[in-house]
Amino acid sequence: ELGPSDLRHVESMSHTPSGAGKINKLNAVILGESLASEENDLVMPSPGFSQSALISSQEQYEKMYKKSVEDPAGFWSVIASEFYWEEKWNPNEVCKENIDVTNGRVNIEWFKGAKTNICYNAVDRNISAGNGDKVAIYWEGNEPGQDGQLTFAQLLDRVCQLANYLKQVGVNKGDAVIIYLPMLMELPIAMLACARIGAVHSVVFAGFSAESLAQRIIDCKPKIVITCNAVRRGPKVIFLKDIVDSALTESAKNNVSVDICLTYENPSAMKREETKWQDGRDVWWQDVVPNFPTKCDIEWVDAEDPLFLLYTSGSTGKPKGVLHTTGGYMIYTATTFKYAFDYKPSDIYWCTADCGWITGHSYVTYGPLVNGASVLVFEGAPNYPDAGRCWDIVDKYKVTIFYTAPTLVRSLMREGDEFVKRYSRKSLRVLGSVGEPINPSAWRWFFNVVGDSRCPISDTWWQTETGGFMILPIPGAWPQKPGSATFPFFGVQPAIVDEKGKEIEGECSGYLCIKKSWPGAFRTLYGDHERYETTYFKPFAGYYFTGDGCSRDKDGYYWLTGRVDDVINVSGHRIGTAEVESALVSHPQCAEAAVVGVEHEVKGQGIYAFVTLVEGVPYSEELRKSLILTVRNQIGAFAAPDKIHWAPGLPKTRSGKIMRRILRKIASRQLNELGDTSTLADPGVVDQLIALADC
Ligand code: WTA
Repeated sequence: ELGPSDLRHVESMSHTPSGAGKINKLNAVILGESLASEENDLVMPSPGFSQSALISSQEQYEKMYKKSVEDPAGFWSVIASEFYWEEKWNPNEVCKENIDVTNGRVNIEWFKGAKTNICYNAVDRNISAGNGDKVAIYWEGNEPGQDGQLTFAQLLDRVCQLANYLKQVGVNKGDAVIIYLPMLMELPIAMLACARIGAVHSVVFAGFSAESLAQRIIDCKPKIVITCNAVRRGPKVIFLKDIVDSALTESAKNNVSVDICLTYENPSAMKREETKWQDGRDVWWQDVVPNFPTKCDIEWVDAEDPLFLLYTSGSTGKPKGVLHTTGGYMIYTATTFKYAFDYKPSDIYWCTADCGWITGHSYVTYGPLVNGASVLVFEGAPNYPDAGRCWDIVDKYKVTIFYTAPTLVRSLMREGDEFVKRYSRKSLRVLGSVGEPINPSAWRWFFNVVGDSRCPISDTWWQTETGGFMILPIPGAWPQKPGSATFPFFGVQPAIVDEKGKEIEGECSGYLCIKKSWPGAFRTLYGDHERYETTYFKPFAGYYFTGDGCSRDKDGYYWLTGRVDDVINVSGHRIGTAEVESALVSHPQCAEAAVVGVEHEVKGQGIYAFVTLVEGVPYSEELRKSLILTVRNQIGAFAAPDKIHWAPGLPKTRSGKIMRRILRKIASRQLNELGDTSTLADPGVVDQLIALADC
């Protein structure tokens, strides 16, 4: 896929002692403000918070960190012993790894040979510990006043019924199950039911289009698809079953047929009678699942048996099926959850992410429930019926830990403080941020206004691939710097390397890599181990390459600066530029397309597409709309380009490679920073593009 020479932003980086300054300039491009002064800006934890925190000082963190990197096997074994294992691991074989491609096949194994089950640990174990009557899931519907809840004991019943149904229809250990559900309680229930019987779930975010869903169905060939008929999100109704129907038609054309489409009836959005139905294939959840017994034996699985597949974007058009296994993922998500949010059993935890993304896997479902936490699941849109909805929910459930994305913080910040101040929010204790770098002004608003300057912010840097948090400020342990994810989690050894793959020490900037495996690491890309090695382990031999740029300041704090590959981060959603390009060129009137990310005030990055039309086709507003619609239909609404820039030609090298560096400068209107254009096959193209910039 990409080699170091393809990595972008190289030109913006320097490895001299003033490197941090250079990276700040890069940040300024991404975040729209300078970080120059932020490096010295410390926000101290309040002594009260630190005193009762799980990790109350930097010294305590450092001691634990040291142990975790000097003896990872010992460190993680002690932690693993707190969970239930049907069979223990061999103490001499806690971790086997090779992440150095020059030493052969890349391979990561933790606790192999041990047997456990994550559903047992997330549900049954909490009941055995006497917490059967504790609320596991609070559910808040799209409309205020619409709600529900399940205790751990009730959750177990619901999970077992679905698990029994799945077994009865022939879903066995190792089989794939596609889940295409909105944020109903049935979504975590479905994940846990699969885990209970050893089936491998693949949740597809319910904002993906039929074509994207079909692509995933074709790749993992599930026995069954679980969905619901429709959902309300804000004022809109989304007809999910129709999307599934077209996806199944599409996959059948590719010789992948799915026998059963289990459909949850969501009466607040759509009546059963109005739902299109294919007899013999479609089954109403409510007609079958409640008839099954509420007890279901556990399938004990190997720690290295697959738990789930989650497709994510890369730098080619084809999404990657990131594969996570059971044991290491379980202890890693649970432990990171506990420390990142200073979790206490009395907490009420709300993460606004959808279970269709990794954040919803690790920090709506597994991490919190394995800790026995009460989790809030919210179906609706955070600005519906108005911009105060989040704080209304916080007060209603007395939420103590609130975890969200910078894009939401920025959009609510724009609505003004009044919507926040209308609510008390005094239950809040810890705030969290994920998905993209949080710019210091959004950080401050989140801290001062939402958290009343009382709640530490856990700015968690991690990825679908890492399974759990990698770099984050453990709250209460040390002073924070607004905009910095601060320090690595236990067992995580970050390395900043230069373009030759040489690790650089001290204050510097470059490419963020990780030196050793950690229990939550992904083990392969489904069906494509070679792509796994090429994308992540070949660019810098001996390291896992994250795809992110990063700098380390004089105090050792890490500052993430955004992707350095052809992936853009729109509202915290990862989108491959190649995916959007391939959607655009599928339009009959599009000859060629090049997509770049451009700074966006609310979304972090917006999608900016240069489009060359087929010879003789005139530009028109209608065509622009139809191009955007094509992307919505092929990927999903969240990937719709913000701007279509007509391009009579694209800047290419003589060997035909598109010079994205130049396109990025044109997109951000940094026209005096175009650099050397003399190597272009046709330098005149640049002037043509500039002339059409505002057409
Ligand atoms: C970005 C989401 C800075 C980063 C969990 C990463 C962040 C990509 C942060 C992964 C953060 C995520 N600060 N950047 N706190 N969190 N990112 O796979 O570029 O959807 O590589 O996982 O999001 O996105 P993914």
